[in-house]
Amino acid sequence: MTDAAPGAGRPAPTRRDTLALLSVAAVTLSPYGAARADQANPPPSGAGAGAVTDPNEKEIPMAFELPPLPYAYDALQPYMSAETLEYHHDKHHQAYVTNGNNLLKGTEWEGKSLEEIVKGSYGKNAGLFNNAGQHYNHIHFWKWMKKDGGGNKLPGKLQAAVDADLGGYDKFKADFVAAGTTQFGSGWAWLAVKDGKLAITKTPNGENPLVHGGTPILGVDVWEHSYYIDYRNARPKYLEAFVDSLINWDYVLEMYEKAA
Ligand SMILES: [Fe+2]
Repeated sequence: MTDAAPGAGRPAPTRRDTLALLSVAAVTLSPYGAARADQANPPPSGAGAGAVTDPNEKEIPMAFELPPLPYAYDALQPYMSAETLEYHHDKHHQAYVTNGNNLLKGTEWEGKSLEEIVKGSYGKNAGLFNNAGQHYNHIHFWKWMKKDGGGNKLPGKLQAAVDADLGGYDKFKADFVAAGTTQFGSGWAWLAVKDGKLAITKTPNGENPLVHGGTPILGVDVWEHSYYIDYRNARPKYLEAFVDSLINWDYVLEMYEKAA
């Protein structure tokens, strides 16, 4: 009884305990700093909440975190200004993260993946859904754009699907721009995979194809905060610039291959 080693009687910390402590420390010390750390090791696409991956277990979701932009604020000029990206990313996306974390606390979706939260809260918890949906949408929106992107430069596999399902690139562009133009009020236009085929859709506010039986592979934000500084009320001009000069087709292909 007297020769017990110090610490005896208390179980040794497991790998999971250590990961949990690290997660809490990262969130407690600096959520933004934790997001910055992701720059070297970005989370897998689709993982909207920050996460720690135990090599032997499933991903352990953490609170929502604002991911860093994958390019400089001025990288998309003249099609999207640094001022637009500073407000859109640092203020609007940050607000969805902050509000989403507050609304997630104490709900049945705490600790779930972002996709599970988006799908599960739809029609059940409007406040949480709006913020979680917008967090998901914006995580991908930043990656759906790049410097010198856009235009009819689709990777072959994607080009074949656009030809087969959407009637070719020109028709895709016309229909995608029309979807964004005719979305009344705030929302998004989408290229999604549904029932094994590509489809162009539009949704209001923070909704996306995940809650309509599809998987988004490209989306464009048509909330005024996305274009009003650069294009004022000319939403079609913004949408044409997005398609002609900004789309990161490599990321669209990556999401297509996961969805198909
Ligand atoms: Fe937005």
